[in-house]
Amino acid sequence: MSKYDLIATTAMGLEALAAKEVRDLGYECEVENGRITFKGDEAAIVRSNLWLRTADRVRIKVGEFKATSFDELFEKTKSLPWENYMPENAEFPVSGKSVKSKLFSVSDCQAIVKKAIVERMRTKYKKTGWLEENGPLFKIEVALHKDVALLTIDASGSGLHKRGYRAGQGEAPLKETLAAALVMLTNWTPDKPFVDPFCGSGTIPIEAALIGQNIAPGFNREFISEAWHWIPEKVWEDARNEAEDLANYDQPLDIAGADIDHRMVKIAEENAFEAGLGELINFKQMQVRDFTTTKEYGVIVGNPPYGERLGEKAAVQRMYAEMGKALAPLDTWSIYILTSDEEFETHFGKPATKKRKLFNGFIRTDYYQYWGKRPPRNK
Ligand SMILES: C[S@@+](CC[C@H](N)C(=O)[O-])C[C@H]1O[C@@H](n2cnc3c(N)ncnc32)[C@H](O)[C@@H]1O
Repeated sequence: MSKYDLIATTAMGLEALAAKEVRDLGYECEVENGRITFKGDEAAIVRSNLWLRTADRVRIKVGEFKATSFDELFEKTKSLPWENYMPENAEFPVSGKSVKSKLFSVSDCQAIVKKAIVERMRTKYKKTGWLEENGPLFKIEVALHKDVALLTIDASGSGLHKRGYRAGQGEAPLKETLAAALVMLTNWTPDKPFVDPFCGSGTIPIEAALIGQNIAPGFNREFISEAWHWIPEKVWEDARNEAEDLANYDQPLDIAGADIDHRMVKIAEENAFEAGLGELINFKQMQVRDFTTTKEYGVIVGNPPYGERLGEKAAVQRMYAEMGKALAPLDTWSIYILTSDEEFETHFGKPATKKRKLFNGFIRTDYYQYWGKRPPRNK
């Protein structure tokens, strides 16, 4: 069953969420820096690709060993069973990275790994001369960290954040993986109202709707490993059928997105439509200071502008203050705001119940969490 060593990579700070997702799929896992490692069969490769909302990609570990010389890297790479993964016509580019290692020249490491695999494949497939490399694609990575080389094959292709619904985007769209994480870090359940008052291209409301109806995030896209001969088509078919069975399209949702910019509202609508959620999410043009509601026990998740650009900060902070005023009466709502502004709480006018450090790309941000009153037990 557990033939493969698998790695789901994540952005820093999302490891615990991704690990929970891997466990929920039924695989025991371990968490390292930015990596969730687990064991599984072909179905595990397929299901983790289809279902993981917060992971960047799924990789197959071919080998891991110490290498402090190019000879060592070559010989140990050559001794790995590459032919178990790749047919003789496989196309296999090698990418690389090196951190705190003697072998610091990444281009040399890539070239050596490539050469070692070519030799291995030639011997195993009894080929002389060039390998044609006109077959399915296997993207190999050699990652050196403190003199340990990790050799993996990418089973995802485009990053898992590419769900296949984002046709248009604004200036600072959130990665879909982070947007899903923001939703998963709240106390939202699909029966509660959900609002993103800074929806931009709609990523957060769309991810919320996918979560709310338990729709697999990868349902609408392709994966590089679909072209590999050793993952039978039936495994993909079964996993997609499973995803179809588990999707709860009848779950009613009350999800809304708003943005000050009407062009963004249009883009958000188009993206929701692409995701097959067109009717489900309510988008409208509105400034956050005009937000009012008579609903209770809802959840607000927002990724407002951070005021990172010169001259923007004061205006953004005034807007945070207006937001604080508009949202103050909503004592049953829980409010979650992601921003890099360290003075957010002062401007918003209230200390957060809890803060969580997260990275939005390379920007260090905090996820400010304001927990609303709990509903009475009989609600
Ligand atoms: C960082 S972007 C949000 C990106 C979005 N999460 C996405 O994935 O596309 C911030 C958004 O807030 C909007 N915005 C700025 N000021 C606003 C205000 N006062 N009220 C509502 N929206 C505002 C901007 O138009 C922009 O689309």
